[in-house]
Amino acid sequence: MKIILLYGGQSAEHDISIISAHNIAQSIMYNLYTVQPVYISKTGQWIKGPELKQPSFSDQQLILTIADQAEWSEGNHPSKGVAIRPGDIQEEETIVFPVLHGPNGEDGTIQGFLEVLNMPYVGAGITASANGMDKIISKALFTQMGIPQVPYVSFNDIEWQKQQEELIQKAEGTLLYPLFVKPANMGSSVGISKVQDKESLIQAVEEALHYDRRIVVEQGIQAEECEVAVLGNDDIHVSCVGHLIKKQDFYDYSEKYVNNTVEMEIPAQLPDNITQTIQDYARKAYLAIDGAGLSRVDFFVTASQDIYINEINTMPGFTQYSMYPSLWQATGLEFRDLVEELLQLALRRYESRTSQSQSQE
Ligand SMILES: Nc1ncnc2c1ncn2[C@@H]1O[C@H](COP(=O)(O)OP(=O)(O)O)[C@@H](O)[C@H]1O
Ligand SMILES: [Mg+2]
Repeated sequence: MKIILLYGGQSAEHDISIISAHNIAQSIMYNLYTVQPVYISKTGQWIKGPELKQPSFSDQQLILTIADQAEWSEGNHPSKGVAIRPGDIQEEETIVFPVLHGPNGEDGTIQGFLEVLNMPYVGAGITASANGMDKIISKALFTQMGIPQVPYVSFNDIEWQKQQEELIQKAEGTLLYPLFVKPANMGSSVGISKVQDKESLIQAVEEALHYDRRIVVEQGIQAEECEVAVLGNDDIHVSCVGHLIKKQDFYDYSEKYVNNTVEMEIPAQLPDNITQTIQDYARKAYLAIDGAGLSRVDFFVTASQDIYINEINTMPGFTQYSMYPSLWQATGLEFRDLVEELLQLALRRYESRTSQSQSQE
């Protein structure tokens, strides 16, 4: 079978996506599969590279530039590819692994596109991807499942224009500073601010409105951050709990990805009952969004061991520093087996959807 690795993309997590894709390409069982890299450039150009029949030598090799067909077919330009239209990836006997994070990758758009192409793909479907990406929708679903969350207020740009003063009063009346202001749909801390007073709250909302028309204002809490990996379609598996050791109280994009100052403690040193509660909430959160394939579920745990869900990520990072594969490794599932399991889950989900649509006819 062929695996199409779809990576890069136009979100802020472009570079992470390349490293994740490289890491996955290194772990494919090449006796069973070949890998077709399809790189989405920062400008949204789709570029198909030479097929991989063995691990690639570096992640730089996956950053493709466009060559003319003649140049490419010589095969001595590992990082040259040909421009394609998205629909050109359609092929039989092929599984797509969309290693894309953030908007246009993890939010249901690419998943919808792959459904239209009628191709099996790794990870969550349209609904789960969109639900997981949207902080307002996912909060509503978590509430329905009885998963605790920090108090929050949400609104859209029109409401903000018309009733700014009322919304500020509502936020200040129900939440305690510091507050976190977030665009509803983004990821990788883009557009997120931590604010201490009314003036910076207004500024932060204006800033967040550059990224989305819907906004969440959350109560900030002093807490440790713990994460759990979930794997499965109908039969859901939950990993041990990991702890992000914070050297500062808010991880922005550069801390998370550029400086790599985040350390992980796996498994987290937590009492058994707290671990079990976190795992139970992770499972419920996965069900709440209608998860499939995989997700990483992120929590806050306070000093008095109150647990709050923060968010669910349907396509977490897959770099060698990433929490998701590290959690599985600590739970006894090696990276290579994890990748294989994700491919099998993609095939099973595709088969069950195909048989469902046949029985509707
Ligand atoms: N309510 C909060 N209280 C304390 N810290 C927060 C809160 N919300 C977010 N943070 C900090 O900001 C980071 C990014 O926020 P998050 O909601 O996870 O956004 P993203 O979807 O961009 O990852 C979190 O990992 C955490 O460090
Ligand atoms: Mg996060």
